[in-house]
Amino acid sequence: MTFDLLSTDKNSQARAGTITTDHGKIETPIFMPVGTVGTVKGVHQRELKQDINPDIILGNTYHLYLRPQTEILEKAGGLHKFMNWDRNILTDSGGYQVYSLSSNRKIKEEGVKFKSHIDGSMHTFTPENVMEIQRTIGADIIMAFDECTPYPCDYQYARRSMHMTHRWLERCVAHLKKLPFKYGYEQTFFPIVQGSTYKDLRQQSADYIASVGADGNAIGGLSVGEPAEEMYAMTDVVTAILPKEKPRYLMGVGTPINILENIALGIDMFDCVMPTRNARNGMLFTAHGTINIKNAKWKDDFSPIDEMDITWVDTEYSKAYLRHLFSVNEFLGKQIATIHNLGFYLWLTREARKQILAGTFRVWKDKMVKQMDKRL
Ligand code: GUN
Repeated sequence: MTFDLLSTDKNSQARAGTITTDHGKIETPIFMPVGTVGTVKGVHQRELKQDINPDIILGNTYHLYLRPQTEILEKAGGLHKFMNWDRNILTDSGGYQVYSLSSNRKIKEEGVKFKSHIDGSMHTFTPENVMEIQRTIGADIIMAFDECTPYPCDYQYARRSMHMTHRWLERCVAHLKKLPFKYGYEQTFFPIVQGSTYKDLRQQSADYIASVGADGNAIGGLSVGEPAEEMYAMTDVVTAILPKEKPRYLMGVGTPINILENIALGIDMFDCVMPTRNARNGMLFTAHGTINIKNAKWKDDFSPIDEMDITWVDTEYSKAYLRHLFSVNEFLGKQIATIHNLGFYLWLTREARKQILAGTFRVWKDKMVKQMDKRL
């Protein structure tokens, strides 16, 4: 993997770049749609490519390990082939899902013992087996196995957890050296900064992660319930330390406003379930604020879903029709809303890139943040 840093904004720390992997180019800043179990929920791969057009999507080790299971993915020749997606994929390590989804998890130095949220069966994730599973899934970018601390988190716990995440990182790196690529293309490993909302821990973790010398770095443990200002403060501390010539990925973030603010702080990659999950609940993101399409106020509003017409669904259907689909619980409603939201998120990061390259990012970002901070 290579990263070409094309431009850094003069009035913020925003950057525009290009990541190149064996599955093609990723123009940054980028929002990566979440395809947890090998599908971006409700969206055909063909629609994903033609209408939303992301250079990369995300999958989850935790879910894919449980179903369809690694053995099936190996037989298929990896996740790209299994789901018929020939562009980039990044897999999260399970270091977040195991804490948020499974019950009865026990975190020890060796790894995490957990109960499947599907059938209650017991499993263990260790830094070693998570690297093996990610090798078999075959994503282009694979993540370190870490502990994502909750919010709030007391200082002693955050410190101990951060050190354990660092020790797990050493084990991930050592084990990966023994594991050849499985499918003839390269997989790039990203370590993850932790440290909760403590500035000194974040600095210590960022220093440590930077010293590993990976081709890209991630920031975890944010967007877990802390106020946005605390998130921005932590991003700022960490991006000041992480190497400039490597891509920086902020995990699990966030709202359109969070994304623009974090781009301004030097983040290049994002993922979040928000555009897809909220779409299924009738929440639409637009450049002028958010819409709850289930609201009665839209019942006779026959104007297009979004006048900006970013994806074809925006003008193909009216707000009243989409509201109707939600009120009668038709799945087409969820599909339309998902395509709209993902189209908007990808437009947002693409537009940010254009503005960075044109030298106008800061003014545009401030305007957009004000504009989007509304409920329509
Ligand atoms: N997704 C959102 N936050 C995190 C995190 O801290 N760690 C991992 N592995 N995934 C995440």
